[in-house]
Amino acid sequence: MLYRSHLFVPGGRKELLEKASGFAADVLCLDLEESVLPEEKPHARELVKEAIPRLAEAGRRVHVRVNSMQSGETKDDLAAAVQAGLSGAVLAKTESAAAVRQVDVLLREQELAHDVRPGTVDLIVAIESAGGLLRCEEISHASTRLTGLMLGGEDFAFDMGIRRTKDSHELTHARSVIAVCARAAGMQAFDTPWAHIDDIDGLIAEAEQARALGFSGKYVIHPKHIEPVHEAFSPSEEEIIYARKVLEAWEDAQAKGLGAVQLDGHMVDRPIAERAKHIVDQAEAIAATAVAAATSNGAGANGGAVVSGGASADQ
Ligand code: COA
Ligand code: MG
Repeated sequence: MLYRSHLFVPGGRKELLEKASGFAADVLCLDLEESVLPEEKPHARELVKEAIPRLAEAGRRVHVRVNSMQSGETKDDLAAAVQAGLSGAVLAKTESAAAVRQVDVLLREQELAHDVRPGTVDLIVAIESAGGLLRCEEISHASTRLTGLMLGGEDFAFDMGIRRTKDSHELTHARSVIAVCARAAGMQAFDTPWAHIDDIDGLIAEAEQARALGFSGKYVIHPKHIEPVHEAFSPSEEEIIYARKVLEAWEDAQAKGLGAVQLDGHMVDRPIAERAKHIVDQAEAIAATAVAAATSNGAGANGGAVVSGGASADQ
């Protein structure tokens, strides 16, 4: 499945929850954490609870971001959100493997209470501190329902006492660790949101940097960041054409009993062919998603076509 863009929708904003189905993000992530003030949490939970089945019925993949295990709010967040139609939960400020195991238990309790098959709800955990980053490896093996690691860049920078810059070089180490831990555990890594709403070039540069380090997608805070992020995390036409040629050359090589051949001045061997296969699979998943969008109920707010969750590919 495609997980290139995850649009944060503030859980306390009814009008945003209503228009969210019109945006073409691969995932809609309804937020109960930072975008909701403490006194507004109970109201936001009610709104999110109502919004999930509506968005899922509209064919959208819906996640909820819940407050950290340290906050004391996680159980109430999950009690409101878990139901048929919720695909995943994002645990904020994940500090330890123990916290992941606790949230796994809470998710299971809520699945049982809401007639959802245990294990259905995926879990993505946000790494947002120096301690979380140090324990990233054990965190990423703490639950079978884990599907991804997310970098929470703003909180991480705050915890480290470092100044954020627009080229985000200060996050390179954290990004590398998160990407490696995610891949080593068979998961995906998702990048922190870009906060500069109108600086699309900066967004693209940051997304490309994350992709180059092994990330498969990025959280976004504004609908106009969705398309640039899709582009950054999708293979280009050129890459797809070349990948198809590589696969042909590799098939040919295998038929001739060769482990390496030359293509246009470059060597092709098994890992290069496997990467090419991955690119072609991704391109096919993206094309299938576009077809599903074209046959669903048309364009949404800001002209973003609605995407159904039908396509599948391991990013
Ligand atoms: N989800 C759904 N709709 C959104 C949206 C979002 N995250 N961000 C903006 N929109 C909508 C707006 O309501 C507006 O709709 P309209 O044209 O029908 O009025 C349209 O997109 C354009 O928005 P714009 O006027 O440019 O921005 P804004 O000032 O309304 O909102 C933010 C700016 C930052 C407040 C808003 O984007 C937001 O709340 N983002 C998410 C913040 C968040 O979740 N933070 C925590 C995670 S880091
Ligand atoms: Mg954060």
